[in-house]
Amino acid sequence: QTVFLKDYTPPEYLIEQIELNFDLDEQHTLVRSTLSLRRNPQSQDSSAALTLLGEELQLVSIAIDGRLLMQSQYVLGEEALVVHEVPQDRPFQIVIENTINPQANTALEGLYLSSSMLCTQCEAQGFRKITWFLDRPDVMSRFKTTLTGDKSKYPVLLSNGNKVGEGELENNRHWVSWEDPFAKPCYLFALVAGQLECVADEFVTMSGRRIALEIFVEKHNVDKCDHAMQSLKNAMRWDEETYGLEYDLDLYMIVAVDHFNMGAMENKGLNVFNTKFVLARPDTATDSDYEHIEGVIGHEYFHNWSGNRVTCRDWFQLSLKEGFTVFRDQQFSGDRTSPAVKRIEDVNALRTRQFAEDAGPLAHPIRPEAYIEINNFYTLTVYEKGAEVVRMLHTLLGAAGFRKGCDLYFQRHDGQAVTCEDFVKALEDANGVELNQFRRWYSQAGTPVLTVSQQYDAEAQQLHLTIQQSCPPTPNQPVKASLHIPVKLGLLAADGSAAPIYCNGSSQAEITLNVTEAEQTFSFAKLPQQPVVSLLRGFSAPVTLKMERSLDELAFLLRHDSDTFNRWEAGQQLAVQVIFKLIDAIELGRPLQLEPVIVDAYRSVLLDSGGDLSYQALLLALPEESYLSGQMAIIDVEAIHQAREFVKKTLAEQLQAEFKQLYVQHHRDESGSFDAGAVGRRRLKNACLSYLSKLENADVYHIAEQQFYSARNMTDQLAALSAIVNSNHPAKARSLDSFYVQWRQEALVIDKWFTLQATSSMPNTFATVQALMKHPAFDMKTPNRVRSLIGAFSQANPLHFHAQNGEGYRFLADQVLALNTLNPQIASRMVTGLAQWRRYDAGRQGLMKQQLQRIVATEHLSKDVYEIASKSLA
Ligand code: ARG
Ligand code: ZN
Repeated sequence: QTVFLKDYTPPEYLIEQIELNFDLDEQHTLVRSTLSLRRNPQSQDSSAALTLLGEELQLVSIAIDGRLLMQSQYVLGEEALVVHEVPQDRPFQIVIENTINPQANTALEGLYLSSSMLCTQCEAQGFRKITWFLDRPDVMSRFKTTLTGDKSKYPVLLSNGNKVGEGELENNRHWVSWEDPFAKPCYLFALVAGQLECVADEFVTMSGRRIALEIFVEKHNVDKCDHAMQSLKNAMRWDEETYGLEYDLDLYMIVAVDHFNMGAMENKGLNVFNTKFVLARPDTATDSDYEHIEGVIGHEYFHNWSGNRVTCRDWFQLSLKEGFTVFRDQQFSGDRTSPAVKRIEDVNALRTRQFAEDAGPLAHPIRPEAYIEINNFYTLTVYEKGAEVVRMLHTLLGAAGFRKGCDLYFQRHDGQAVTCEDFVKALEDANGVELNQFRRWYSQAGTPVLTVSQQYDAEAQQLHLTIQQSCPPTPNQPVKASLHIPVKLGLLAADGSAAPIYCNGSSQAEITLNVTEAEQTFSFAKLPQQPVVSLLRGFSAPVTLKMERSLDELAFLLRHDSDTFNRWEAGQQLAVQVIFKLIDAIELGRPLQLEPVIVDAYRSVLLDSGGDLSYQALLLALPEESYLSGQMAIIDVEAIHQAREFVKKTLAEQLQAEFKQLYVQHHRDESGSFDAGAVGRRRLKNACLSYLSKLENADVYHIAEQQFYSARNMTDQLAALSAIVNSNHPAKARSLDSFYVQWRQEALVIDKWFTLQATSSMPNTFATVQALMKHPAFDMKTPNRVRSLIGAFSQANPLHFHAQNGEGYRFLADQVLALNTLNPQIASRMVTGLAQWRRYDAGRQGLMKQQLQRIVATEHLSKDVYEIASKSLA
């Protein structure tokens, strides 16, 4: 059942209008859909039949132009309703009545029940679980929706667009009608019904229009909407200022629901959000929660243009809207907080997670060519690498050129369903450039490797930089073509200042090299001394850089590079080299010793804040175990953990005074306002606490416990609890219990409680995880809870998940199979924990493979799980 990009054909019919009537009920919702259809003049096909897609629906009746159809006039299948003959030469109308059972819908796709409210998720193909339709994004219709329901159960009735009517009915029932003036694909349809409170505000657009802003939440969450509302206003203003894009309806609504498969959904005028990305109060949400909320609110808002006004022709084009919108939300968050810190966080996530995807059996280009289940392609590659591809275009064209290209794209394609190719073409046309080679980024999977060597010619005062590019094979792509890779470069003189780069007659502090061939040499003149090269500044391309560097050279860059990303990167690579030497020693059974150069480097970072405390905290963070794994041919989970812990503990010992001093300097008993100063203080202080906790002494135990009990904000409380849980702190059990009792009413905080225990590196974690599966607060039907326990254990606890006896793998497969029937999307996300099996030693390989085979051999496997498990084995 594979779908291929090359098989795309335009729709045979168009649906210009749809009128939807819902008679809402938890178990028995009646849908009446009136479709205004006509043949698509664009379509080559000439069959007289009409195929409408629908799944898990009960048909009540179907009529064409007022005449009920007999059973002989259509075929009702598992996935489609085929009407044998429809008018070819004129518009016609179809009226379908069907019923659905939202309560039975644990897949959370289509219309479902979350707590006591009814809500929808239609992207990518959920609309067909509501009624039969041409469920594809290039069919765009004007929607009119009327919701009818019980007034007590569903006092609030919402859908897309503007409210155009409402009224009372008998038996305590009422109705509301909504009309969306913009034609849209059905994946952007939404309805919500429930007992919801509304937090209201207003935004005045750049042209002076007043927009009503409404956030709907359950009553007990009304006090956690301020930050989301402020974020929305910030996003609206930012998109006007940065892209010249204004909001287009009079009303913007956001609804927060407890049960949601993903982060949030950009339904036109009615976003539906996972509560995780809306609700925040200083005592319940961490600083990074605050940042994620602003980022996701921005992301969904930005979709109104990059996604809704201009949408995708087909689902292979997903990165057209997602890559672009992620890039936009990254820019927004960087502008709101610190561009340097945001860039490092994004690159860190990309390199630890997307690079692994790109190097494994599930690798695919940002524009995939085939899928079995499209939900499996909402990936790090489509989203995060997609954003990197857009960022490279931004780099190549410059900010002004990129903006000109976007202006043309939005103007040219407003109201259309288009392709990635249309996006690149608009950028080309607006700038009078040609991006043919660059286009390969859309079709080629895998992370390119740049291998760099340098040769300094003292006599000629020249530096020659040779850059080779290659890309390892990925599934179905054994041979790779050269890509167009923008490589930002700076040169540093011996005193750390910028050495001027002479090119085209003028001198510059920084240039962008266009790497286009398999091997290229770039020469730089007028260099009386050999400079230190700072390459791939700002991480200007999603590639792996291979360049011989001494520890001293890295320490020099860590001290002097003016590029904030590369300064951080030098520290990371320094730590990577040190850790890998230790891994070698561990594998050879030699004693461990820490290189003094890293102690000195960290000491100077500790002593010099440079002003930005969040950035300083990042400079102190050792590379994560998952990043280190990515650098190893055969991953040695235990050695990685042991070596990294050794570095952390030894740094804590040798720099104890400095860590303590910084901790004391920045520790405040503050309630947790989300301003840059306070966030930076907390981040740095808690980084110090994390190091100090490795000392395992009474003094530090006391500091951690003190912070845990006195904290008035979640960032500090959770950081302290984490230090306690990941050590032999005597008060571990007591602190965990106290945290649970304190927060039992706050689902999002209890998620953190599960995650903290599931990710602990201490012994007995697996037994704890098994016990937590039976905890009354655990629930397989709540995706956030599943992710907080099963997801966290299998994806963020390599040490215990990869236990040599295979218990972690067996456990994960058990949970995948349990989830398979309940919620295939969540189940298939969990399988990815096993996908990287080829990267481990023979013993683990066998055990992981065995569980994948067990999954694939199971009957009634969902497409979602089947695709991931079988491709992992291939
Ligand atoms: N378009 C949404 C976003 O990125 C994601 C929705 C994906 N949902 C899904 N079931 N695949 O903002
Ligand atoms: Zn998105």
